[in-house]
Amino acid sequence: AYVIAQPCVDVKDRACIEECPVDCIYEGPRKLYIHPDECVDCGACEPVCPVEAIFYEDEVPVEWSGYRTADTEIFAPLGSPAGAGATGPLAEDHPLVAARPALEP
Ligand code: F3S
Ligand code: F3S
Repeated sequence: AYVIAQPCVDVKDRACIEECPVDCIYEGPRKLYIHPDECVDCGACEPVCPVEAIFYEDEVPVEWSGYRTADTEIFAPLGSPAGAGATGPLAEDHPLVAARPALEP
């Protein structure tokens, strides 16, 4: 699956959502998350992110490797809702994201 890493935090450009054919990119308060079981590895989202936050799971830069587990763990209470649009925004971010200091305006 593809993973959304730290550059998305507090940026949330959302261009990736438009590209995903299976609607598996879910929005949290400060970052978006790709559902690892719903992602079909098409790669369409990766080039459109203006801050280059999206990586194939095996290619996540080592300093952001925690985001691989973040994008998995965030869905543990949800299971596989099969559609971000129908599910609506996530109530909370993963602790890794929530702990980040806010981006300076
Ligand atoms: Fe985030 Fe980039 Fe998508 S900033 S919302 S991963 S286009
Ligand atoms: Fe969706 Fe394809 Fe990205 S399934 S999350 S657009 S890799």
